[in-house]
Amino acid sequence: MPPLQPAAAPPLPGADLAGAERGPVQPGVVLVGVGPGDPELLTVAAVRAIAAATLVAYPVARPEAEGMAARIAAPWIRADQRRLPLVFPMVSEADPRRAAWHAAAAALASAAAAGEAVVLLCEGDASLYASASYALLALLERHPGCPVRVIPGITAVAAAAAAGRWPLALQQDALLIRPTPETPAAFEELLAQAGREGTVLALLKLGHRWSWVRPRLEAAGLLDAALFGQRVGWPDQLLAPAAAVPADEQPYFSLLLIRQCWPKVLP
Ligand SMILES: C[S@@+](CC[C@H](N)C(=O)[O-])C[C@H]1O[C@@H](n2cnc3c(N)ncnc32)[C@H](O)[C@@H]1O
Repeated sequence: MPPLQPAAAPPLPGADLAGAERGPVQPGVVLVGVGPGDPELLTVAAVRAIAAATLVAYPVARPEAEGMAARIAAPWIRADQRRLPLVFPMVSEADPRRAAWHAAAAALASAAAAGEAVVLLCEGDASLYASASYALLALLERHPGCPVRVIPGITAVAAAAAAGRWPLALQQDALLIRPTPETPAAFEELLAQAGREGTVLALLKLGHRWSWVRPRLEAAGLLDAALFGQRVGWPDQLLAPAAAVPADEQPYFSLLLIRQCWPKVLP
C-alpha cells in the first residue's frame, strides 16, 4: 500500500492576516505558542496575533542569539514590526534567572502601557516547560494591570507522535510528560513504575542523556517500544525507533516516547 499522503492544506489567508484584516492596535501582551519548528504548525490564532502585533518579543539565551521561537515564526513576522529579544539565561543559579524574568516582565508591561500590542513568542506550547511561563507569572505578580492572554501552541510531544504515527494515549492509559531523569538509577525506577502503572512516557531534555538512556532501554527490552524524535518539524527532523539511534549524545531538541503496553481492545 502506498504511504498515506496528507491532504493538501488550503493556503492560509496570509495576505488578509498580514494586512487588510488588522484592526486598531489593542495594547497588551499575548504569549503565543509557535509550535515545534514547522511554520505551518502555528495556529490561525497565533498567526493572527502576530499579524496584529506592533512589537514582537522572543526569548534568547544570549543577547546576540537568534531565538528558536523567532526563527519558527519568521515567515509570519513582517519587516515593519519591531523586535524585542528578551534574554532568558540558561543557567542553574536562581538569582540571574529571577532577575531576567522580572526584567522581561517589566519590559513587556512597559511596552503595553505605552500602547504597544506585544506578542511574546514561545517554542512549542506556551504553558509547557516554557520560558514564557515565567514572564507570565512575573507579569501577573508585579504588573497585574497589564492585559495578558495566552495562545496555546502545538507541543513537540504531539508533533513527534503525529510525525511518527504513534498514538500517545488510548483508553485508560496515563501519559506522563516530564524531563528525562538526571541519573540512570532514577530513569530505571521511572521505567519500572511506568511499566507497572501502564503509563506512556514522553521524556523531554533527552540530549546528552541519550548516551546512557539507550543502553538502559535495551537492557529493559524496550528499544522497540520507544520512538526517538529530534528537531521535530524542522527540515532535518529525525523520527526513528529507539533501536535505530546510536548511543551518542544528541542535541537538546530531542525527546523520547515510550509505550510499554497496549490496551486489550484494539483494531
Ligand atoms: C524547555 S522544553 C520546551 C517544550 C515546548 N514548550 C513544547 O511545548 O514542546 C524543551 C524540550 O522540549 C523538547 N523539544 C522542543 N522542541 C522540540 C523539537 N522540535 N523536536 C524535538 N524535541 C523538542 C526537547 O526535549 C527539549 O529539550
